Order: sequence, then C-alpha cells, then structure tokens
Amino acid sequence: MGEPDQPSTARMIDYWLGGADHLPVDVAAATAFEQAYGPCAPVFRELRAFLGRAVRAIAAQGVDGFLVFGAGVPTMGNVHEVAAEATVLYTDVDPVTIRLGQRILAGSDRVGYGFGDATDIGTIDPAQLHRFVPGWGRRPVGVVFLGLAAFLDDDTLMRTFDELYAAAAPGSLLAVDFDTEELATHPQALAMMGPTFRMRPPAAFAPLLGRWAPTADGIVPVSRWRPDGVPAEVPDAFYGALAVRGED
Ligand SMILES: C[S@@+](CC[C@H](N)C(=O)[O-])C[C@H]1O[C@@H](n2cnc3c(N)ncnc32)[C@H](O)[C@@H]1O
Repeated sequence: MGEPDQPSTARMIDYWLGGADHLPVDVAAATAFEQAYGPCAPVFRELRAFLGRAVRAIAAQGVDGFLVFGAGVPTMGNVHEVAAEATVLYTDVDPVTIRLGQRILAGSDRVGYGFGDATDIGTIDPAQLHRFVPGWGRRPVGVVFLGLAAFLDDDTLMRTFDELYAAAAPGSLLAVDFDTEELATHPQALAMMGPTFRMRPPAAFAPLLGRWAPTADGIVPVSRWRPDGVPAEVPDAFYGALAVRGED
C-alpha cells in the first residue's frame, strides 16, 4: 500500500504539535488552512495540554483503563504517554490512521489500536476491548472523546453519548471537547473542514452530554480547564470538560 494522497486532520494535528507522523500532503493542507485562518500550533497545543490534564485527573481517581475514540495519531503527549501505567485502546474509523497508529504502537503490550466507530461501540473488537480496557462495563474507565464531536450532528452525538453512558460503569469519566464558532469569521478555513463539520455556540454543549454530568469545572475553554499556572492566550476554538457517569 502506497502513501495516502489525501491529507488527514489527524496527521495535520500531528504536524501542528511538532510530531513526526505526517506526510507532505498534510503539511500542504495545514499550510493552506493557516493561510485561511491563522497559526494553529498554539491552539492545538492547548487542546493536547487539556487532554493531558484531563487524563491525569482521570488517572488520579484510580482509573487505569482508557478507551479513546477518534484517536488520530497516538503520539505527542497522548493518553498512554500521560497515563504511563494504564492500559489504553485507541480507536478510529480511518483505516490509514489505524494502520499508522498500529505501526507506532507495535510491540506495546499495554496499548492497542483498532477500528471503532464512536457512534456504534459494537464495532469495536470485543477481544481488543477486554484486553486493553479490562472490566469495561463493570469497573470505572476513562473515555476520551476529543476532536470528534464537531464531526457528528446533534442527534447522533446525543445518541452516542447516551449509548456510552449506558455501556460504561458508574464512576467512569469522559474527557470531551466541542468546537466553538471560531471559524465563522474565516469562511475559507471553514470550507476546508468539509461538509460534516459543525460549529456550535457554548450554550449548546451541555445539553448534548445528556446524562453525563460535567465536573464542577464546567465546560470551559480548554486553556482554562484546571490550568497549570496562567492560561495561555489563544482563541477559544475548543471548549472542554470532564464528565462523570453517575449511578443509575
Ligand atoms: C480532528 S481528528 C482528532 C484526532 C485526535 N483525537 C486529536 O484530538 O488530536 C478526528 C478523528 O476522528 C476520526 N473520526 C471521524 N468520525 C469518526 C467516528 N464516527 N468514530 C470514530 N472516529 C471518527 C477521524 O478519522 C480522525 O482521525
């Protein structure tokens, strides 16, 4: 199989984060996007830093198994690097991304990468799920859902969160982000995000979570979610939250 000739948002993010797992086609798309919007690296660094703080917070609750949806490229401060003792299953729907992730993680016995459509958790290989997220459905786990909500319409997203709530054990924690309307004033950049991309006003975020209850931190710009020191000054392109799966 040759190199992909289409850019992927997952590998573009790897480029913006300073990773090594992207191709010239991704750099070209990332550069075109920055011409239409502005610098992206600081914005995505803040999103990845939020992932780090949220995953650390989950691990601090004693959670040692993580299920990651829309995982993209599993490097640069990603879940298994932050929760260095935990087992982690990364999933995605894009076969090229999955193959890349499997290559990056080859040889690890505590981290796997496989197919998983977030909108239908039944698509995850049960053997992989139980190997890397032991006790799924019976003991609390971390669910990471970042860079994905913007690609699902409201009904699909609500149903997805509801199914995840039903499947996850009480005490499980969901790390999630939502895209704001930041690109509304950058129509060329917005067009580059493709037809399924949707922006939302912050007031729309909480109702989408359904039964998942955000922690007292709320749903806030990712740089202001439990910041380590003074929050970075970046556009509020992403809001994030940690949400809890309560008792039935
Ligand atoms: C913008 S990237 C985000 C990557 C990574 N989570 C991050 O935050 O850097 C979105 C990823 O979601 C994947 N994706 C899109 N629809 C999906 C779905 N229904 N289920 C799982 N993954 C999906 C894409 O293939 C892509 O890798």
